[in-house]
Amino acid sequence: MAFVIRNSMEISAGLTVLISCLFLLSNGAEIEDCCQTNNNRQSFTTISKQPYRTSYHFQPSRNWINGVYLSSQILMYNPHGAVFGDIMIWAHSASYDLINWFHLNHAICPSEPYDINSCWSGSTTYILYTGIDANGRQVQNLAMPKNLSDPLLKEWVKFSGNPIMTPPNGVKVDNFRDPTTAWLGSDGEWRVIIGSQSNNQGMVILYRSKDFVHWTKFQHPLYSSERTGMWECPDFYPVSINGTNGVDTSILNPSVKHVVKTSFNSHDYYVLGTYDPQMEKFFPDSEFEGTSLDLRYDYGKFYASKTFFDSVKNRRILWAWVNESDSIQNDIEKGWSGVQSIPRQIWLDESGKQLVQWPVEEVEMLRGKQASINNKKLESGSVFEVSGIIASQVDVEVVFELPELEKADEFTSPGWVDPQLLCNDKNALIRSKLGPFSLLALATEDLTEQTAIFFRIFRGHNRYIVLMCSDQSRSSLREDTDKTTYGAFVDIDPLQVKISLRSLIDHSMIESFGGGGRTCITSRVYPRLATKRGARLCIFNNGTLSVVVSSMNAWSMNKALTGGEEGFKI
Ligand SMILES: *[C@@H]1O[C@H](CO)[C@@H](O)[C@H](O)[C@H]1NC(C)=O
Ligand SMILES: *[C@@H]1O[C@H](CO)[C@@H](O)[C@H](O)[C@H]1NC(C)=O
Ligand SMILES: *[C@@H]1O[C@H](CO)[C@@H](O)[C@H](O)[C@H]1NC(C)=O
Ligand SMILES: *[C@@H]1O[C@H](CO)[C@@H](O)[C@H](O)[C@H]1NC(C)=O
Repeated sequence: MAFVIRNSMEISAGLTVLISCLFLLSNGAEIEDCCQTNNNRQSFTTISKQPYRTSYHFQPSRNWINGVYLSSQILMYNPHGAVFGDIMIWAHSASYDLINWFHLNHAICPSEPYDINSCWSGSTTYILYTGIDANGRQVQNLAMPKNLSDPLLKEWVKFSGNPIMTPPNGVKVDNFRDPTTAWLGSDGEWRVIIGSQSNNQGMVILYRSKDFVHWTKFQHPLYSSERTGMWECPDFYPVSINGTNGVDTSILNPSVKHVVKTSFNSHDYYVLGTYDPQMEKFFPDSEFEGTSLDLRYDYGKFYASKTFFDSVKNRRILWAWVNESDSIQNDIEKGWSGVQSIPRQIWLDESGKQLVQWPVEEVEMLRGKQASINNKKLESGSVFEVSGIIASQVDVEVVFELPELEKADEFTSPGWVDPQLLCNDKNALIRSKLGPFSLLALATEDLTEQTAIFFRIFRGHNRYIVLMCSDQSRSSLREDTDKTTYGAFVDIDPLQVKISLRSLIDHSMIESFGGGGRTCITSRVYPRLATKRGARLCIFNNGTLSVVVSSMNAWSMNKALTGGEEGFKI
């Protein structure tokens, strides 16, 4: 029997709960009651010596993860190995600040369902998850906390009437998964959507329920689109049209727009639009194109993400699973794979055309020793090392002024160009007038190893074009890692705003936020020499024109408690 749990949902009752795209998988032979035992308590000595372990991003002490859950966090976890497979379970960690985490016992494991009779109401927290049944069908199941008085909801029990939704007619049995966070309609009934594909259209199938147990499918999907393939890990939520505040998932009024996000082709794409509750349909402002025109949360590695509304701080928070770019053999040798992004606040840009993301403010409590620069002119070809910080573990923000903006190279392409290809063709060694300039992260002194996160500015037909790139091609002397270059345009006008970049650098993880969070790129890198104290952080300008650093602030980051520490467990 194979058993897969992917994703789930939240309804909160005092405790904010989010569960992201989760997997629970067992290939059968040995279904064990792993909930009785916690993670294999291995020696972490070897792990602490590893150069690629992150210091302030959440990752498992060992083995494979994907997925999250807030305040309490549930992770898809493989207790037996560093890669996907074996028996997958839901590991459970908790945090009071989204940055420091402690382990709890595993929440749900492959085992016979408990016998439960209970009175369920909409103010209770449930988990709705996809299971794969004995016939290989993807079905939706329900689990609930065993003890609602437990603030950490440590124990979960499965509903005796599972499954509660099975693949509808016209949908392949293996294309029916990942229920979203439910929302409450004005009729008092719950709505939930499930990722699917039918007749070559990616879609989210809409259901409703009065009691969370009996679900009725609507005739039509909430939204579907050609050119995308199967939709995994969908997300559907409102964003405030005139502020950075978040709103509860069930809010529907003229002050919000809606977001549909789906995961396909290894990326998390979204469209903005309007939710019409009478027609029970979502109308996007523009459809998915299946090209580089489509909006993405992040233009590097960032998958199976999920948001939740944090009612305590009135914000919506996004986070995702960030995959390794290392070989499977190396993942197995280092004993773990997968890292969670730093949680990001997410809101609608003033333009109404895209979302903006920024690391949650809590990450700033890890900031230690600081280095600053103000008003420093960077002549063509200059490289300036930021000293006094630990460059392998740093939060850096840099803002540039472009005194000779009008001399920027002309953008000569006749039509739209794929920005990732442009970054690949014009990598960090190719000089134009304005650019490349910005950061060299995890660099050796001679720069043979370096990850360049940089901008290039072009003069377009009637506006300037800002390109942001993350060039991994020189990130490691090792040959066996994925060094794909990432890139995207930043929708800002450099005549109006300065060009800014913030990067969270953490040994093998670099999360970069360009233009105040309008364009995000996350990458994984595995330097051989630029590790720990051997790593440097530089500001560079290799354009033929000079640029000015109006400000630069970098902070060494303290280590967060991410669960991998020996003995740190409640
Ligand atoms: C439920 O949790 C509360 C709070 O942790 C605890 O006091 C109580 O004993 C628990 N009840 C059961 C039946 O375990
Ligand atoms: C936000 O927009 C709504 C709808 O247009 C309006 O009613 C509300 O006053 C606005 N709030 C702010 C803070 O501007
Ligand atoms: C995981 O990483 C590999 C190697 O970089 C990549 O090819 C693959 O697409 C990634 N998967 C996802 C879901 O991001
Ligand atoms: C600047 O560009 C030249 C020409 O490609 C290259 O040789 C040099 O290494 C570059 N400098 C930096 C800091 O990247």
